[in-house]
Amino acid sequence: MQDLSVGMSLMSGDVMPRLGVGTWAPAYSPGVIRDVVLHAVLNCGYRHVDCAGFYGTEREVGEALKEAFAKGIRRQDIWVTSKLWCTFHAPEDVRPAFMRTLEDLGLDYIDLYLIHWPVSLRKNHALPPRADDFLPPVPAIQTWKEMEKLVDGNLVKNLGVSNFTSVKIEKLWMEARIKPSVVQVEMHPLCQQAKLREYCSLRRICLTAYSPLGGNDHPTRPSMPNVLQNATLNRIAGKYNKTTAQVALRWGLQMGATIIPKTTNLQRMAENSKILDFCLDSDDLASIAAEDQHMRISSQIMLNKFTGLTPEVFWDGE
Ligand code: A2P
Repeated sequence: MQDLSVGMSLMSGDVMPRLGVGTWAPAYSPGVIRDVVLHAVLNCGYRHVDCAGFYGTEREVGEALKEAFAKGIRRQDIWVTSKLWCTFHAPEDVRPAFMRTLEDLGLDYIDLYLIHWPVSLRKNHALPPRADDFLPPVPAIQTWKEMEKLVDGNLVKNLGVSNFTSVKIEKLWMEARIKPSVVQVEMHPLCQQAKLREYCSLRRICLTAYSPLGGNDHPTRPSMPNVLQNATLNRIAGKYNKTTAQVALRWGLQMGATIIPKTTNLQRMAENSKILDFCLDSDDLASIAAEDQHMRISSQIMLNKFTGLTPEVFWDGE
C-alpha cells in the first residue's frame, strides 16, 4: 500500500493528505458510501475523506469511520472535510447545521469546513432549485464569522470555501479573522484553473480539485469532451504503463492540488491510489497544458440548475 498520508501543509500547520476519497453518489443506494469509505481507509490507504451535508451520506461515512477506528485506525490519522449547504448561510443556521454534520459523522471535531457554494437558498428548496428558491446572498463574511466560532470552540480545525473564484475569496480574505486556507473547485486537464492556482500560491491557499477525472458520473451530464478519452492523456498513459485516469490524477497532484476522485468501484479505487510511483515530465506537462479548454463540467451542470446565473457572472470571468 502506498503512503497516502503525504500532504499539503496548511496555514494552521495541519497537513491535509493529497489524495482523498469523494463521498457524493449521484445514483445513491444505501450502504454504498459506507463500503467505499471503509475499503478506501482499510484496504487502499486513503487518509482523507471528503464529505458534505448536502450529499446525504454523512451518516454512512460516520458508520465507516466508527468501524475503521474499531479496527485500529486513529482519528488523528484521518482527514475529514465537510461543507455547509446553501440553506444554512444565515448566521443563526450555521452552528445547528454544523452540529448535525458532526453528529452524523460521529466525530467530536472535523479537520476542514467549507462554504459549499456562494449562493443562498431557501430551506426545503426544490432540486434543481426554482427561481423563487434563491435568497439574496448572505454576505460570506457573515456566515464565516460563525464558522470562525466553530474553530474557536475546537470543533473545526481549518476553514475554507468551495466554488469560489479568486475575486470572491479575496473579498473574504480581507474581512476574515481566520483566513480561508482551502478552496475546493472543479479541476482536471480540461479545466486547469490557472488563474485560481496562481492566486492560491500567492495567498498560500491549498486548492482541492473535485471531479479530477472530469466528473463523468453526473446524471444530467450532456455530451461533453471526456477527460478519460483525451488522446494526449491516453498517449501519456501508454508511456508510463498507467491508465488515463492515473495520468489525470497525477497531473492534479503535480499542479500542487489535493485531489478527491469519486468511485464506487473498489478496483478503480485501488487504481486511483497508485499514482505516487511515477512522475510526469516537462514534455508531458506541456502537452497537457495545451489541452485546457476552461471547461467546467460538474460545476457547470450544477450552475445550470441554479436558474438565472450566467457563467460569466458567477465565475467572475475566470
Ligand atoms: P465509477 O464509480 O463507476 O468508478 P470525478 O471524481 O472526476 O467526479 O469522476 C467520477 C467518475 O469517474 C465516476 O463516474 C467513476 O465511475 C469514474 N471513475 C473513477 N475512477 C475511475 C477510473 N480509475 N477509471 C475510469 N473511471 C473512473
